[in-house]
Amino acid sequence: MTAVFLGIETSCDETAASIVGADKSVRSHVLASQVDLHQVYAGVVPEIAARAHVDTVSVLVEQALAEAGMTTKDLDGIAVTAGPGLIGGVMVGLLTAKAIAHVSALPYYAINHLEGHALSPRLVEDCPFPYLLLLISGGHCQILRVDGPGHYQRLSTTIDDAAGEAFDKLAKLLGLGYPGGPAVERLAKTGDAQRFDLPRPLKRKGEMNFSFSGLKTAALLSAQDLAVDGVVAEQDAADLCASFQAAITDSLIDRLEKAAAMMPEVKTCVTAGGVAANDVIRSTLEDMAARHAMTFKAPPLWLCTDNAAMIAWAGLEYYAQGRPGDALDFKAKARWPLDPGAAPAPGAGVKA
Ligand code: KG4
Ligand code: ZN
Repeated sequence: MTAVFLGIETSCDETAASIVGADKSVRSHVLASQVDLHQVYAGVVPEIAARAHVDTVSVLVEQALAEAGMTTKDLDGIAVTAGPGLIGGVMVGLLTAKAIAHVSALPYYAINHLEGHALSPRLVEDCPFPYLLLLISGGHCQILRVDGPGHYQRLSTTIDDAAGEAFDKLAKLLGLGYPGGPAVERLAKTGDAQRFDLPRPLKRKGEMNFSFSGLKTAALLSAQDLAVDGVVAEQDAADLCASFQAAITDSLIDRLEKAAAMMPEVKTCVTAGGVAANDVIRSTLEDMAARHAMTFKAPPLWLCTDNAAMIAWAGLEYYAQGRPGDALDFKAKARWPLDPGAAPAPGAGVKA
């Protein structure tokens, strides 16, 4: 019989629950976005996020079970995001999972949110280990070599902002709303990517890490030059978005090509995380992979941004290996690097 897991995700601004089978069947996948609550602040407010998770998480778990036509009796286990993320929200999900696991006598697995993203392509297609992973989200920008669940080698990280964070900041600057990535991508479609000569930070020989803060400052200065009475005209904003998106894409490709050169034996390249929903980035990565005779894989859009199906799947990967569930005293983690042995990256706001 196929093992079936409930997944729960509450680490940022989406409350999500999903029922997934070990046969890769997504039996249900429900999500409550908090975008409306945070939009007025143009960013996620941790306290508001945690309270919203409290209000919605049990409703979503019930909905996920109902849509799958199941009760907790039909489950083989529970997987929940236990970090990294906004600690209040992570605690809400983790406590919920522990409570359901305890009363239902089910094993539960405390999953690293980044591992959920990292293994997500395997939920929808054949994606054998090892692979090179470009993990690009609101909180992270890393290149990892993935050798299996729990086995990651970090080759690159950001020394300041994450790629998604950079998109969000440009959107805030131009008054495009939150989340910024999709809004910048939309506007960039009608823009001229050549118009602004924006910097490609750290693009130099031997450098593996990312940096986006200089790019952000350059975009800010351009926006200030363009603004008339504090407003940037639509076409100017579109050109700036397109140029900014091109600069980010260039940086991603530059570091990924270096990683591919370091690991010629790895023949698959995967991208995951919210920014992997960006069409221009996806297609440029696909071209790069083809140039290096690598197979390119990216999860479908719904699986790129935060969701609970990827968390359920990561739990199922551990379950299939025969790993026992976690203890009820497992603590929520605000920081939780996938490769704890990686050398710290120099910089002001180092991301794990
Ligand atoms: O993985 P995710 O849903 O949450 C985190 O774990 O951070 O990623 C959210 C990030 C946000 O910064 C959002 O602006 C960005 O992904 N994003 C995009 C696009 N869709 C979402 N960035 C660029 N282009 C997109 N189409
Ligand atoms: Zn995420």
